[in-house]
Amino acid sequence: MAGRYTDEQIDEVRNAVDLVEIASRYVRLKKSGSGYVGCCPFHKEKTPSFHIDPDKQLYHCFGCGAGGSVFQFVMSAEGLDFPDAVKLLADSAGVRLPDLAGDGGEDRYRRKRDIYAMNKDAARYFRDCLFSDEGAEARAYFQRRGLTSKTVASFGLGYSPKGWDGLLRHLAGKGYPRDMIAEAGLCVHSDRGHTFDRFRGRVMFPIFDVRGNLIGFAGRIMGGEGAKYVNSPESIVYDKGKNLFALNLARKSRRGYYILVEGYMDVISLHQAGIDCAVAGCGTALTEAQARLLARGNTVYLCYDMDEAGKKARDRAFEIFKGLDARLRVITIPDGKDADEFVRKYGGGEFEKLLSGASSVTGNRVDDLLARYDTDDVSQKVELINEAAALFAGIQNAVEREAYIRDLSAKTGISFEAIASEVRKAGGRLRKKEVADDVRKSVSTLRPAREGPSGGRRESAERRLLGLIGADAALYAKIADNLREELFSEGIHRDIFRKIVEIYKDGSDDAERRLLEAYRGREDELAAVLVKTDDPQSAAKAAGDYINVIEDEILKERISGAEKAGDLALLAELLKNNRKAGM
Ligand code: UTP
Ligand code: MN
Repeated sequence: MAGRYTDEQIDEVRNAVDLVEIASRYVRLKKSGSGYVGCCPFHKEKTPSFHIDPDKQLYHCFGCGAGGSVFQFVMSAEGLDFPDAVKLLADSAGVRLPDLAGDGGEDRYRRKRDIYAMNKDAARYFRDCLFSDEGAEARAYFQRRGLTSKTVASFGLGYSPKGWDGLLRHLAGKGYPRDMIAEAGLCVHSDRGHTFDRFRGRVMFPIFDVRGNLIGFAGRIMGGEGAKYVNSPESIVYDKGKNLFALNLARKSRRGYYILVEGYMDVISLHQAGIDCAVAGCGTALTEAQARLLARGNTVYLCYDMDEAGKKARDRAFEIFKGLDARLRVITIPDGKDADEFVRKYGGGEFEKLLSGASSVTGNRVDDLLARYDTDDVSQKVELINEAAALFAGIQNAVEREAYIRDLSAKTGISFEAIASEVRKAGGRLRKKEVADDVRKSVSTLRPAREGPSGGRRESAERRLLGLIGADAALYAKIADNLREELFSEGIHRDIFRKIVEIYKDGSDDAERRLLEAYRGREDELAAVLVKTDDPQSAAKAAGDYINVIEDEILKERISGAEKAGDLALLAELLKNNRKAGM
């Protein structure tokens, strides 16, 4: 286990750096009111919703919900863990920190930095080999696969020569210790105690993390026998579940979405064709951490092979992305080709067409069903509609649901009405649903919901209300009678509210500072509350509005709870209150 820095050390670093200055290395910031705004570096957006509060040294993005202190900023921006972020900031601010006592007292951060540098030397070596006499076959291979020399250069491709220890000797000659070469996975040990290069006689693909650190390699065989790819093992710098091939490039793409493909070659071909937002896993199945890197409010196109393995991977991706904030689209490549073969044969323009024709997850599943069942057979038709109905019943949006039903009706020749009725059955409880529709109608006349990725209407009202009372002791005193714990959702909001009450009870009137102290190291949870987009005209009026919104939402939740439980008496009661409240 690596050690950790003391609170004093962390504070020393915190006080030595300025979030505005650090963030402006990544984002163009503009002054706005008492703070700064810019386009969020953590998700793609065109209108700025990334805010910095320089006094509190906190940031929050109202688009994707990212937020926190300068440490969280660097962790996200640089893909570092907490100690490494502290270390990086300390180095840049000239604060000296002791080495963390890791295994053997080594400095993890420095070790990683050394391996990045060594990997770079290895990549240079592979590149030089590619352009040497030995590399003729590899050069011909890349050419055969349609890669231009510009692509070879921009991806840093290379060739590992056939000998046993060319790289080993090269790196040792540059002074890299053997155990470091082994730690980075560049060599392997034989049973007989010999050490030789891991990559021999292969074309080489360097793999970078999101910041552009060289973390590993993949080596593809050019023919003959052996595994198609040999990959670097996981190491202190290479976590396959947390990295994506070419994410460092795709992140800078102006396209505003990502394309997830299966192979390194698919990525490279797409980039060469100008589709520079393609990424791939590192030879392992998609993980939630990888999905998170892509989600962040983005559209993600899944482009898996159409074979059974590809379909499995796609279904797995559906599951993983389910809870995340991303719009998924599925690209189907005709003729069972992969992305690489397709763009090489038809060009990038045709691939763009596949993108615009990409189907939603539901559409893609319907296609699957249509392929699986024979619509000329009555019993199979029934099965098909049953499965489709279950799928459609889960769609919340009525317009969307209808569109799918219409589409399926056209494709199967089964009437719209017949399918719709199965969908209703699948949704169950027809009678209750009619009541529920009634309720929903009256509920929907409430103020329109403003739901964004950073939370629903209630959550955002709670957040702003907390922000207002936390900033203004006088306001709190004025409206304290209207505030009760239950207004705030259980969890972080209620916790913050309790804390604010406690702080004011103590006679302090600087709640914000005290909150920051109480949430040291957990500023990401506070940032959403304390970072403000604008200075409210009348805080008291705004607070009153937020309380109303929260009360509305609480009522709505109770109505929908009663509806789900089928408690018609309670439902009627609640609706009466609803009308009484003039809504
Ligand atoms: P593919 O077999 O589709 O390879 O594997 P590819 O990248 O498209 O290569 P070409 O087009 O045949 O040259 C997809 C991915 O699975 C991993 C690699 O990450 C590869 O890019 N893989 C595949 C391995 O790690 N090892 C293997 O032996 C095969
Ligand atoms: Mn391929």
